[in-house]
Amino acid sequence: RFEKVWLGAAILLIVGFIATIAYGSVGVGVGMVDDSGGQISAQEVQNGNTGTHFDDPGVVKTGDDKYTVYVVARQFQFVPGSGDNPVQVPAGANVTFRVTSADVVHGFSVVETNINTMVIPGQVSEVSARFNEPGTYGLICHEYCGAAHHTMGGSVEVV
Ligand code: CUA
Repeated sequence: RFEKVWLGAAILLIVGFIATIAYGSVGVGVGMVDDSGGQISAQEVQNGNTGTHFDDPGVVKTGDDKYTVYVVARQFQFVPGSGDNPVQVPAGANVTFRVTSADVVHGFSVVETNINTMVIPGQVSEVSARFNEPGTYGLICHEYCGAAHHTMGGSVEVV
């Protein structure tokens, strides 16, 4: 009889974990659309003719302490983010990342934060965060995207 109680408790715990995970991913939200409400294609992103901020990706100030960071992921870099072009945002600001892909599925994850989303060609992934601590945060692609997937990364500098 006690075994049944423990089994029940274990199942409840497992269901609870799954619910927590599902809730986390719902919070991320993968949007289908661009700023103007239309869908953008990976080809348009490749060619830089989406007619959106993705044609010249980077950090845009949208209000007091509010920033939107447009990031294009492609094999095997983030623009901005990779190499000598880190994402730079102020500490304490509300930062919304809008990320799309110019080719295949990538991941977008900022180390030591809960920023973690898939980046899907033809879609815009949106995730918001606030960095309270200044510093350099690692940025990694956590979805296999090709031969140099393991080299795809960058940084977010919070100043
Ligand atoms: Cu991009 Cu893995």
